[in-house]
Amino acid sequence: MARRKARLLTGVLFSLVLVAGACADEPEAGGGGGGGGGATPEPEFTTLEEGVLQVASCLDFPPFESVEGGDEVGFDVDLAEEIGTRLGLEVEWVRADFDTVFTAIAANQFDMVAAAVTSTGDVGAERDQIVDFSDPYYNSRQSLAVNVQETPDVASTADLGEGHVVAVQRGTTGKAWAEDNLVPQGVQLQTFQAVSDMFRDLEAGNVTGIINDEPGSAGAIEAQGLEGTVEIVEPIDTNEKYSFVFSQDNTGLRDAANQALAEIIQDGTYQTIFEQYFPGVEVPPEYQPSA
Ligand code: ARG
Repeated sequence: MARRKARLLTGVLFSLVLVAGACADEPEAGGGGGGGGGATPEPEFTTLEEGVLQVASCLDFPPFESVEGGDEVGFDVDLAEEIGTRLGLEVEWVRADFDTVFTAIAANQFDMVAAAVTSTGDVGAERDQIVDFSDPYYNSRQSLAVNVQETPDVASTADLGEGHVVAVQRGTTGKAWAEDNLVPQGVQLQTFQAVSDMFRDLEAGNVTGIINDEPGSAGAIEAQGLEGTVEIVEPIDTNEKYSFVFSQDNTGLRDAANQALAEIIQDGTYQTIFEQYFPGVEVPPEYQPSA
């Protein structure tokens, strides 16, 4: 629950102005503010604890969310903290296992989830029946990673069948994709709580492959120094988009977060954060400021 002090330079000046305004308007009281200027009125919202945005995350899914030197870092972390700042809220991070976050947020155990959560895509997930999602903020897809030294012959999921064990994280769209597509081929699935453990087991040759979000697998390979041993051999287009997650009881907070997210995209802050975590990758047009 450490609080993050570092903040992107570009966001600072703009955020300070907004915080000052938001504080004066006491957003917690549900007053919503809507201070001056005739701009879009701010949606009214409440949080569990006044002035605080409790955000749950696994915090072990780089480059989206992880802990470095005691500080929460990552693309989702920076975006969530930017949203908090613009709503006049201090972000408090709550660590949670991925497969528990949906029932927990539905039961109002925290205000928001930021965990590279897929809100729409080709892979079925019943989570949308019990939670609410923000507008999308990142486009993603699945992938197959293998140990290229142990199994240089496995180049795609078509090469997997009887006798192969594939690792998936509990509660994820990757698990759903593997159940739909690999189990019918005779592949056996092994479920894990943490992504880092899947990669450790793949490095050790205990599993044949991992089905996981492509950017999350790329992040794990880098963070765990597995380049040259473990590689992504096949991206799998599942058209997934990530969103922040809210309780269906708190549509005001979701609306306020959506408004902040739209501003973050429109003023170029999104672009700055994106380029920090995905250097050399072009920001998709839908997340660029519109003319
Ligand atoms: N995007 C996938 C899903 O929503 C996987 C997310 C895994 N996130 C994590 N923090 N481990 O199911």
